[in-house]
Parts: sequence; C-alpha cells; structure tokens
Amino acid sequence: MATTKGTFIAIKPNGIQLGLVGEIIKRFEQKGFCPVGIKFLRASEEHLKQHYVDLKDRPFFPGLVKYMNSGHVVAMVWEGFNVVKTGRVMLGETNPADSKPGTIREDFYIQVGRNIIHGSDSVKSAEKEISLWFKPEELVDYMSCAHDWVYE
Ligand code: RTP
Ligand code: MG
Repeated sequence: MATTKGTFIAIKPNGIQLGLVGEIIKRFEQKGFCPVGIKFLRASEEHLKQHYVDLKDRPFFPGLVKYMNSGHVVAMVWEGFNVVKTGRVMLGETNPADSKPGTIREDFYIQVGRNIIHGSDSVKSAEKEISLWFKPEELVDYMSCAHDWVYE
C-alpha cells in the first residue's frame, strides 16, 4: 500500500482557543490523510518536557512548556503517503513569518512562540512522539474507502 507510517500532530492551546481545530483537521482530511487517533487533553509539564526534550537547553524552553501547558491540546496521529514530510510542509516554518502562504502557520498566526500547531519533524521523531502520546489501543487500524481514489 502506498502509505508510510503516521505522524504526530498537535493543535496547541491557542489553536483551540482561536477556533482552528476544525480547519486544521479539514486540511489534513482534504489532503487525503487518514486520522488514526485523536484526543483532547491537558498535557502535564513533565509530559511536555519529555516531548520537547531535545530543546531542553534552549532559552525559550521554560516558556514553551508553559505555553503548551496553558490549556488543552488536540493530539492526533495521521497516516498516509509521505505524511511526516508533507505534514511539515502543510504546517509551514517554525517561525510563521518565514512560512509560505497557504500554510497553517502563515495563514493563522504571526509569532514563533505562539505558532498554534506541532508536527513531527522526521519519521524517527514521529515514532517516538506517537508512543509518548498514545497507547497502542488508542490507535485504530483501518483503510479509508476513498483509498483507491487517493492512491494510484
Ligand atoms: P514543533 O516541534 O512545535 O512542531 O515546532 P518546530 O519543529 O517547527 O520547531 P522546534 O525547533 O521543534 O521548536 C519547538 C517550538 O518551540 C517554540 N520556539 N520558540 N522563541 C523562539 O525562538 C522559539 N523557537 C522555537 C515554537 O513554539 C516551536 O514550535
Ligand atoms: Mg519540533
């Protein structure tokens, strides 16, 4: 099947407050990706420190953890062909000011520290993040009935 493993996408607390949940899910659905896990939760500081452990020595780390813990997030796993790489393209650059028009970060926000959405940056990170955020039984295994209309 023309798919790769999933990517971990999280709508950050301000993405929820700004009413962007439906719009973000719509973009991934319309692209042809399939949701295999979605949940709404408030992540603990410990959990977020683990999620962003590679950035622990950066000056913005405490503020990043505080921002991510300031409200609920929508944690999701999406599957499909090249989903990790394409997902990052759909998000835009880390800094919304560097993002291209039509990307989520360019379209909906302006500051790096409030960039509304997270996406795994490699297949390896995706595997690590999916297992940090989801138990295996929280993920479904199915094939969309549109599969053959999306893939050749
Ligand atoms: P994310 O992990 O959230 O998808 O973001 P990313 O890969 O595009 O960027 P990353 O380098 O992993 O940084 C994680 C988050 O830290 C915040 N940040 N602030 N003030 C700053 O210079 C700065 N740099 C990064 C952003 O919220 C970024 O998404
Ligand atoms: Mg990152």
